[in-house]
Amino acid sequence: MSFDTLITNATLPDGRTGMDIAIADGRIARIAPGLSGGQTIDAAGRLVSTPFVDCHFHLDATLSLGLNGEYNQSGTLAEGIALWARMAPDFTFEDYKERARRYFDIAVSQGLLAVRTHVDVTDPDLVAAKALAEVKEEVADYIDLQLVAFPQMGFYCRETMGDTIREALDLGFDVVGGAPHLEKTAELGRASITALCEIAAERGVMVDMHCDENDDPNSRHIETLVYEAERLGLHDRVTGSHLTSMHSMDNFYAARLITRIAASGINVAVNPAVNTHLQGRYDSYPKRRGMARVPELMAAGVTVGFAQDCVLDPWYPLGRCALGDVAFLAAHVLHMTDVAGLGRAFDNVTTAPAGIMKLDHLGLEPRCSADLVLLDATSSWEALRLRPAPRMVMRRGQVIAETAPSLPRLSLPGRPQSFDPATYFQGADK
Ligand code: FE2
Repeated sequence: MSFDTLITNATLPDGRTGMDIAIADGRIARIAPGLSGGQTIDAAGRLVSTPFVDCHFHLDATLSLGLNGEYNQSGTLAEGIALWARMAPDFTFEDYKERARRYFDIAVSQGLLAVRTHVDVTDPDLVAAKALAEVKEEVADYIDLQLVAFPQMGFYCRETMGDTIREALDLGFDVVGGAPHLEKTAELGRASITALCEIAAERGVMVDMHCDENDDPNSRHIETLVYEAERLGLHDRVTGSHLTSMHSMDNFYAARLITRIAASGINVAVNPAVNTHLQGRYDSYPKRRGMARVPELMAAGVTVGFAQDCVLDPWYPLGRCALGDVAFLAAHVLHMTDVAGLGRAFDNVTTAPAGIMKLDHLGLEPRCSADLVLLDATSSWEALRLRPAPRMVMRRGQVIAETAPSLPRLSLPGRPQSFDPATYFQGADK
């Protein structure tokens, strides 16, 4: 069999070493030791993985931090929403497209090749939605972009929101969103979940709902989302995002809820960086961190993605499109810092979110797309410890980004002038 490209001597996230990855016609043809043929890329023992996948993001707001001269002073979700409501009407169609294009330039350099973004559809003219529907087509050769119709100011902020959601789906949106905890009453929150899930079922699309993004232990819209996922037969085509109230629920209720989530088959997306920043803002001490009960959810068999949510916008002043940062932080906050936990945390930003987004073409198996990243690390654990930009990013068998390793330069008597951080901790330089 002839190959186009052969990546040699790769270490894989499952721990296999010395593996060669043969690529033909943009797909993985074989993975085994001792292959030959094709143009060779020597991984030299480094980690080769499927790309990073961000299953929860807000592309319409990204890179907008401070553009209207205002910053979120309180660090709360509520101030971020108010700031966004003042800022968004001034953005043009081209503003949305240009910020999205720049974001994806950075994303590709970081090996982030798939993003599910929520898009605010409060504007009945759908300026942002139309702009990002065009961007989805423009970047399709290198980014798998899924668009979520997200009524940021509430499904019931106007009577025509259902029609607007359907119009967004007509534009090519993939997913129905929502934010039941932001409706004016808990009853309206529950009703919004039913209405939105019914639209998704009617149109045959997925659901990804912001759910209970607060510190209120009695905010329990997730149980309604689970109920509707079962009632409408949507199951693993539904994702509950954020779920920060789960942090504050009593243990009996949380245990029952985890069982219900697992039985329904729905997925969970958490946003460790943004929610440790936004939550606990009304607490004195101890300050809650607002993380869903991820180890317990995963132990029950729930697919959990760690996602970025925001980069440089009214909610979050940090972020750099690096999902390794997100997993690194999550591993700390969730006490997933044992070796197995760190390996799982890497999966939570690669394979698990790909599963949530139903990106079946991604994987380290024959016939999967040759969408791969080469990282300066010898294990997924080390990839989180060092969090390097990928040396090489491949899409459909073509190299689309490369980053030279940054090597420190020392001026110390009797010490080396330079070393490679990826190997120096083990006492061997390359
Ligand atoms: Fe979000």
